Amino acid sequence: MRWFGWLRRKRETDGITELDGSPAVMMGGRMRTAGVPYMLPRDMEEINRLDFQHYLLRYAFRGNYAAPIGHPTSILDVGCGTGRWARELASTFPQARVTGLDVTPPHADEAASADATLGLRPPNYVFTAGNVLEGLPFPDATFDFTHMRLLFLAIPADRWPFVVSELARVTRPGGWVELVEAGGERQGGPAVDALIDWGTRMCAHRGIDVTYGARLGDLLSGTGMVHVQAREVALPLGHYGGRVGTMMEADFFTGIRGMQGLITTLGITSADEFARTLAQAQADVNTPQYKCIAPFYIAYGQRAR
Ligand SMILES: C[S@@+](CC[C@H](N)C(=O)[O-])C[C@H]1O[C@@H](n2cnc3c(N)ncnc32)[C@H](O)[C@@H]1O
Repeated sequence: MRWFGWLRRKRETDGITELDGSPAVMMGGRMRTAGVPYMLPRDMEEINRLDFQHYLLRYAFRGNYAAPIGHPTSILDVGCGTGRWARELASTFPQARVTGLDVTPPHADEAASADATLGLRPPNYVFTAGNVLEGLPFPDATFDFTHMRLLFLAIPADRWPFVVSELARVTRPGGWVELVEAGGERQGGPAVDALIDWGTRMCAHRGIDVTYGARLGDLLSGTGMVHVQAREVALPLGHYGGRVGTMMEADFFTGIRGMQGLITTLGITSADEFARTLAQAQADVNTPQYKCIAPFYIAYGQRAR
């Protein structure tokens, strides 16, 4: 057991290279960010998935946020990914300074000056590199609105209270913190269940509990935030769910494929078994027998004045 643990650690730290100015490593056949528990890839396929997912969520949730934020003058997006959300907020609130923070800098194409020329990078948007697990590089009470979406594959269970306390710390009294997470697809049949189980076991290797999203409201209350609201929004996954269901299907299976190499490298299942199960799951979610549901968790709270 120890031997395999050593092998795994070695494999995970060998061959660290630099990509877009930050450490990256090839693991399970895809390039990933080195030095953090997060395990989704950082390549063009994943960049496209994140952009697609942003538009899907904005459409499904009928907007980019749920908290009653009024007219914020400073906004932070933690784990901003491709920066779509933050840049849209910068356009919606041109009077606000919007900061996107991520451990992975934007892809070189995104960072290129052509972006600004095309109007895709509003002048009131800035990117800052940072690792939220090490604390946020901002003074107390800096932002009116602090947002974090879909970091449930990045934050080990025992780090969640610290991360949420950091989000609260950098938010001004009277300002809002909003969290959006996902996880735990259900009613998709045994093949979908198997994929979820393998992903869950892979995450557990890094101390990540994929069910943590359901606790967002308690986490916000635990930091002393007031007017906390938390709800589950169950999105359909599969053609039965119309446009949202079809988009969710593409997003889910692209995301799962991003974990495939790690799952098989860890020996949780074989590459053949994974491929067979993935094909079965893709067929199942479009049969009338199953109506797969993908839960999202949305919670927000106000920092006490
Ligand atoms: C699934 S993506 C979500 C991106 C974005 N929030 C969105 O909703 O489109 C997760 C993001 O978290 C970033 N991330 C992972 N670990 C992080 C850490 N410790 N600190 C900051 N960002 C991190 C990843 O680089 C990735 O961009």
